Amino acid sequence: MTNKPGSIPLENPYLPYPVRIEEIITETEDRNLKTFKFVFLDRKDEEKFAYIPGQFAELSIPGKGEIPIGIASSPTEKGFVTFTVNKVGSATAHLHNMKEGDLMGIRGPLGNWYPWEEMEGKNVVLIGGGFAFTTLRSSIVYMIEPENRSRFKDITVVYGARAPGMLLYKDELAAWEQRDDIDMHITVDATDDPDWKYNVGFVPTITEQKITSADDAIAIVCGPPIMIKFTQPVLEKLEFPPERIILSLEMRMKCGIGMCGRCNIGDRYVCKEGPVFSLAQLKELPPEY
Ligand SMILES: Cc1cc2nc3c(=O)[nH]c(=O)nc-3n(C[C@H](O)[C@H](O)[C@H](O)COP(=O)(O)OP(=O)(O)OC[C@H]3O[C@@H](n4cnc5c(N)ncnc54)[C@H](O)[C@@H]3O)c2cc1C
Ligand code: FES
Repeated sequence: MTNKPGSIPLENPYLPYPVRIEEIITETEDRNLKTFKFVFLDRKDEEKFAYIPGQFAELSIPGKGEIPIGIASSPTEKGFVTFTVNKVGSATAHLHNMKEGDLMGIRGPLGNWYPWEEMEGKNVVLIGGGFAFTTLRSSIVYMIEPENRSRFKDITVVYGARAPGMLLYKDELAAWEQRDDIDMHITVDATDDPDWKYNVGFVPTITEQKITSADDAIAIVCGPPIMIKFTQPVLEKLEFPPERIILSLEMRMKCGIGMCGRCNIGDRYVCKEGPVFSLAQLKELPPEY
């Protein structure tokens, strides 16, 4: 892990790597969230696309343009890279209509990543909501890889979706539930499913109920702005210092490499210096996020 945040690891930062859609998995019952598994047409490109959990890439969709999407796979998973995409507008709808075997491009990896060196030897609390859980999925898979697990102390996960049918990665969630080295707290905003066996309540409420200590812990929060807004005071009440509350921001982006000026907060480019910031860093910036 030698890349520097903000560095551009690409030979030509505007040139996407060609990839083939290997598999498409429909994640949610409304069919609006799909996971795309890509393989690089040239295996050497996979080596060049060396990423770290927390980073994103620009998906280059033929005839439609590029969209920034968080990397959902872990660098410990070899031979492919995955992204989970919510269908919201023209580019994402076009991608959702593409088929296994179709060709497109990936430009990246881009942005910085979660503070892995600081997280080493600490308890790690991961708090996610909705489709923003993607880079937390990458992080969990990375941390529980046998060669990495001993580098981190307790792993606690709070993950929420609107309803049971809107949860991502259901098979993996079930597998993580069974492990005694992850404390999982899955929640939904509401459900009338009598068989639902997990929590019901918003992510900040469940965080308040389940996370009891900030001792030697670092919290990573990734979710919609409203979830972040209400989770932040819960963590502050638990006395997580601002340096150990880590947030991933989702601003409007275009180039992803600090050239177009679409994503700035004050004088900082979120695409290049972020999307991951500590609350301590954000407190120094204008409240534009
Ligand atoms: C660093 C980063 C990581 C992201 N990771 C993911 C991810 O893992 N999965 C995922 O599904 N999406 C992710 N997004 C959001 C994704 O980039 C947008 O949803 C996408 O660009 C919309 O493209 P579109 O052409 O389909 O929509 P448009 O037609 O451009 O817009 C449709 C709707 O989406 C909203 N929208 C457009 N761009 C954004 C944006 N950047 N953030 C939030 N809302 C937006 C618009 O307000 C509008 O309501 C991420 C964004 C960033 C910046
Ligand atoms: S997206 Fe172009 S400067 Fe950040």
